[in-house]
Amino acid sequence: MPAYEVRLARPGEESAICAVCRAGFTASSRGLLSPARIERQADEYYNPARVRGEILTAADSSSWQGYVVAVSEAGEVLGAAGGGVLDHAVGHVYVLYLDLGLRGRGIGTALLDFVTDQQRSAGATEQWVSVTEGNDLGIPFYLARGFIQRERVPFTFADDGTVEAHSLRMSRAI
Ligand SMILES: CC(C)(COP(=O)(O)OP(=O)(O)OC[C@H]1O[C@@H](n2cnc3c(N)ncnc32)[C@H](O)[C@@H]1OP(=O)(O)O)[C@@H](O)C(=O)NCCC(=O)NCCS
Repeated sequence: MPAYEVRLARPGEESAICAVCRAGFTASSRGLLSPARIERQADEYYNPARVRGEILTAADSSSWQGYVVAVSEAGEVLGAAGGGVLDHAVGHVYVLYLDLGLRGRGIGTALLDFVTDQQRSAGATEQWVSVTEGNDLGIPFYLARGFIQRERVPFTFADDGTVEAHSLRMSRAI
């Protein structure tokens, strides 16, 4: 088990964050979304230019509270997460991915705890996450952390409006 710390991401860590998120998104979407869709989504969200901007704008508003990373003593990014608070009370977890070889050792929980503390500090009393239906790498984790499934909605892609899957919207009190 590597020693690690959880903290806000720093400029320069964007490529490592993208690598972890791409790998996690790809593995957890396999068989649920088409390979072309997985590639497009990953290119859109997990490209270093975008993530660098999202690191730099972390302090600007509570709606996006920045990338959070779990980093080993050697400086390697092991996992990444990020969320924000809308309407002063509703936290949203937008990203949570881990080096898949390190699953089940508490690092995902440590990332979620950091994001949850950020959200509580911004006034949130509930926390939501959307997970692709069938994502067996993600859904059991959220259930274990006290989330309850609230809604099942079409997973509509912003770029072309296509529906390929469904999202489960889950929430818990924080
Ligand atoms: C989801 C993820 C971040 C969890 O991180 P992790 O470090 O493996 O999780 P932890 O070790 O902190 O906690 C795992 C908890 O979930 C429970 N769990 C049950 N089934 C599980 C499963 N299939 N996968 C992961 N956790 C599971 C464990 O029992 C544990 O609960 P406990 O501490 O009460 O025993 C990580 O598995 C991951 O990156 N998955 C792939 C990407 C993904 O699906 N992300 C979410 C997309 S929104």
